Amino acid sequence: MTLVIAMDGPSGSGKSSVSKGVARALGLRYLDTGAMYRAVTWWMLHEGVPVDDPAAVAARAGDPDVRCGTDPNASAISVGGTDVSGPIRSAEVTGAVSAVAAVPEVRERLVALQREIIGAGGIVVEGRDIGTVVAPDAPVKIYLTASAEIRAQRRSKELAGASLSSTQADMARRDRIDSTRKADPLVRAADAVEVDTTSLGLAEVITEIVQIAKGADAGDRVREALSAEERP
Ligand code: DC
Repeated sequence: MTLVIAMDGPSGSGKSSVSKGVARALGLRYLDTGAMYRAVTWWMLHEGVPVDDPAAVAARAGDPDVRCGTDPNASAISVGGTDVSGPIRSAEVTGAVSAVAAVPEVRERLVALQREIIGAGGIVVEGRDIGTVVAPDAPVKIYLTASAEIRAQRRSKELAGASLSSTQADMARRDRIDSTRKADPLVRAADAVEVDTTSLGLAEVITEIVQIAKGADAGDRVREALSAEERP
């Protein structure tokens, strides 16, 4: 498999900015799997599906036609031909997405789509279960973390007007659902490198991960060259 960088971690750990930055620096594609769960959630709400009813969500899981771009400079996502890149960031979608993402039928469908997009590789993929479920053979796995306070500060800056305490409470609620759900919970893959971004700037984190990726890529090429030499 050519380079796949699996980037997992909780919300507010800096995953999106870091993943896009690493993809740009290495000339790779970029996939935001959280946006795909958000797009399905937007569609369920739009269709009037009761999102707190897992059976109702499961029954419609095969219906939304989600299309997702992979350009780190122009994230594009649509459902049934409608561009939803704005609406998937609404408070309504953010409040409902953890419940929808916990439904196994939704995950099965999106994981298959994500594997199709990853294809032969050359991509940075961000999410919660990339190193554990979607791409367990990814040569580079990163688990981004940061303190709960810093994560809430970053998120409330993004959501203009949201108070720090309500943002922190909402993030804790989502983290709890994402980490304790039965289907593909957020856990650090045993072979992932943990990068704590609490006191690091964005550029520093990107540089660190680019170095890790270059090391893994060089290691792969050396191993390939060695096994070619061993062939008769
Ligand atoms: O990263 P985000 O906040 O956009 O993710 C939205 C939700 O989707 C979040 O509650 C966790 C869920 N998610 C998931 O279950 N698996 C992924 N690979 C990505 C996101």
